[in-house]
Parts: sequence; structure tokens; C-alpha cells
Amino acid sequence: MTDGCPYAEPYKPEFHRDPDRVYRRVRDAYGPVVPAMLEPGVRGWLVLDYATIIAWCRDTATFSRDARRWSDWRSGLIPEDAGVLGMMEHRPNVLFADGAEHKRLRRAVTDSLGGIDSAETTAYTARVAESLVDGFCQLGEADLIDEYARVLPLTVMNRIFGFDEDSGRRFITALAAMMDAADSERAGAELERVVSGVIARKRKEPGDDVTTRLLDHRAGLSDEEVLQHLVLIVGAGNEPTANLIGNAMRMILTDSAFCDEIVSGRMDVEDAIEHVLWQDPPLIGYPVLYPVSDVSLPNGGTLPEGSPVLLGYAAANRAMAGANAQEEAGATANRAHLSFGVGPHRCPAQDLATMIATTGVRTLLRRLPGVRLAVPAAELEWRSSPFSRSLTRLPVSFTPQSPTQEEVPWKTSPASPEVGSGGSAAPERLRLSDFLAMLRRDR
Ligand code: HEM
Repeated sequence: MTDGCPYAEPYKPEFHRDPDRVYRRVRDAYGPVVPAMLEPGVRGWLVLDYATIIAWCRDTATFSRDARRWSDWRSGLIPEDAGVLGMMEHRPNVLFADGAEHKRLRRAVTDSLGGIDSAETTAYTARVAESLVDGFCQLGEADLIDEYARVLPLTVMNRIFGFDEDSGRRFITALAAMMDAADSERAGAELERVVSGVIARKRKEPGDDVTTRLLDHRAGLSDEEVLQHLVLIVGAGNEPTANLIGNAMRMILTDSAFCDEIVSGRMDVEDAIEHVLWQDPPLIGYPVLYPVSDVSLPNGGTLPEGSPVLLGYAAANRAMAGANAQEEAGATANRAHLSFGVGPHRCPAQDLATMIATTGVRTLLRRLPGVRLAVPAAELEWRSSPFSRSLTRLPVSFTPQSPTQEEVPWKTSPASPEVGSGGSAAPERLRLSDFLAMLRRDR
């Protein structure tokens, strides 16, 4: 929201530079539920209040997840090429389902995720994190978003879902385009093509992975439903987890008091991640609710039936943390933030996500002592999304370190002569695309 502008504009770079300022202004003007522009010409609402988010997420009689209720979309007011459609257009998956259908789909998702071996996945995550740091630690500089935060969860997801190298690479490229709300139609079509290929392969060669468990689940998901859920789950899993790592590292590198707490051991990394989930969560306005009838607002206004209502977890958490400042400072491990949602749709993978983020941040801090920002904090840029909060880059520098793993898969494999073939020379920088190339060999 710019000065004088009557609504929040969470898609704008100015918003992401200082969201708190915007939240304060619109809250003062409207109260806990404020009008928002989600992109030029796309109207919605943003809930900024902790208790209201909880109440509305639980009130499934008044608020639906079904995006086909979106009144402006029904009236043909949303252009077909609107960037937000990638995230908002109805899909037949658990996130957009209500009632009995939600229960059926949710059971399949939670059972399939529940089959993940957490000890094995934790060990694998740690190994990938070490390997990634090995890829850049001798260089004394890195972009922690592109070379680390976005690669770590993706690699873990690929393993959990049984994706192969090519599918993983194509999937993440399309996913990033979708989260940026850019060319979402093409990105969505590419996602579906990739996942169809994975399903066809898993039908022939079942494995110990989430894809196979979804295909075999007694809820009897069709191939189309499995496809929809893979697109949802891998997307829902990758992006926010990557952004949590990025947001946590940014806070550590820019807030010296927070950093001291961690480095001195007074706060462990798990608690630090919870603190970031309170203060700077990866999802700031997603998913979207639709009132099934007009709802009266505390300021006397009306939330019209079929309006898209974004769940403003970041604003709600921060207001609640501010109201309980003393308690929060002394008890950062408090997990009562809303960053994983609340009610029947609450994120079914909170432990997995926090494990990946904690492992990722802990590994960086241990492996890169003295790590610091390589650009002034004010120059960091955020991706322009009304739904999520994610840095475009996080350039850091540090004293060059020696790699620790004797066997780094992408450097030792004869199948990858093009990557890191320089013998004793400094290792090649590994970017997302390079890293994906070694996934299959690493299994
Ligand atoms: C830091 C990382 C993550 C954050 C912040 C996050 C947050 C969320 C939020 C806010 C919701 C919606 C809750 C609601 O509608 O009330 C959600 C739903 C969901 N998340 Fe996560 N999530 C993360 C990671 C993951 C991971 C790693 C997976 C899977 C591997 C996952 C799978 C899902 C699924 C399937 C849903 C839909 C559940 C439903 O509609 O019933 N998420 N998540």
C-alpha cells in the first residue's frame, strides 16, 4: 500500500520491503480484515488477526476452500492470463476440497506422508546439506538461495516422491514460475506433464515412496487425483521450506542480537526456526477462503459472498507475538504461530518441513563460521508474490573452508565428467541445475 492508497497491495516490491508498515496502516484504517489488490485488477481481502484466522479456518460452514465460488472469476472479471490463477484457480485436490471429499483426500495424503521413514529422511537431509556446502565452501562466497535453500528441500522431496533427475529439474522450474505468479498457465501445464510421466513410471515400477503409496491407497485415488496431489504436495513442500531457510538465514545475518543468541548456544537452531515462523513466515497470504454468504465485519462493513480471503499469517503472528512480547522472548520454542495453518486443512508435514529447515540452517552455521552478508541488507530483494515471502538472492561471504565429505557424489561419479572434473582444483559451484543432475546417481 502506498501512502493514501486505500488497500493493501501485497504483490508490490514496496510491500515486501516493509510489510509491517503496510499491515499497521491498513489495520488502523479497516480493522482485522482489510481489502487487498492481489495483482492489478484482482480484488481480494486479507485477514490480519490471529483469532479471526483461527475462527474462520475452523468455521467450515461459512468459509469454503472451493475456488469455483470466487465471484469475480465466476463473473468473468479475472483475465485468463492473470498471474494469480496459478495459485488460486480451483484444482481437484485436498487444499480446495471441503467436507467429506476433503476428509477422503486428506486421509490419502496424511497416510502417504506418514509412511516416510523420518530417521532415514533426516540422515539423508543432513548428507545433502553437507554435500551442498562442500560445493561452495572453498570459494568463500555463495548465493544461499540458489545454491542451497532451493536445492535442499527439492532434493529431499525428489527422494521422498521417487522423482527422477529430469522430472525434478523440470518440476522446480515450472513451480518457481507459478509461485512468482508469472506465466502460470504454461507453468501449470508443464507441471502436469512432468508428474504424469512420474505416475506412469511408478505404475510400472512401484517403490517405497509417496507416489506409490498415493497410487495404492484404499481411498482409491484415480491417476488424475494422484497427479493433482503430487503437484500440490511437491509444490506445497518445496517452496515454503526453501523460503523458510532463506528467511531464517536472512534474519540471522541481519539481526545481530538474534545471531548472538544462536551462536552463543543460548537459543538452539530448532527454536530459532520457530522464531522465524513467528516473525517472518514463508506463507503470508495463502491459502484462500471463500465465504459462502455475506459476512459482517467488526468495522460494520460486509465481506461479500464469494470474495477471496487470504490468510495473513505473518501479520497475525507478529501482532500476537507483539502482544505477548515478554513471553515470546523467553519462550521462542512456542509453536502457537499460525504459519502452518489451523483447522482441518492444517499442514500435514510440519515436522518434516521444520526438520529440513533446521538441518539446513544448522549445517550452514556449523560449516561457515563467520558467514556474513555480501551486500548491504537494504539491497536484498523479495520476489513479488501476494502469497509468499521469499528472497530472490542471499549473497554471503565467509572464510574459505575445506570440504568435509570424502565422497561427493557429483564429483566422483564417472557419469558426470562435466561437473567438477577439475581434480584438485577448487570445486565447481553447484547451482540448482547442476545438483539435480546428480540426483539419480545419488540414490
Ligand atoms: C516451511 C514449510 C511449510 C509451510 C510454512 C507450510 C504451510 C502450510 C499451510 C499454511 C497450509 C494450509 C493450511 C490451511 O489451509 O489452513 C499447508 C497445507 C498443506 N501442506 Fe504445508 N507447509 C510447509 C511444508 C510442507 C511440506 C514439506 C509438505 C509435504 C511434503 C506440505 C504439504 C501440505 C499439504 C498437502 C497441505 C494441504 C492440506 C489440506 O488441505 O488438508 N507442506 N501448509
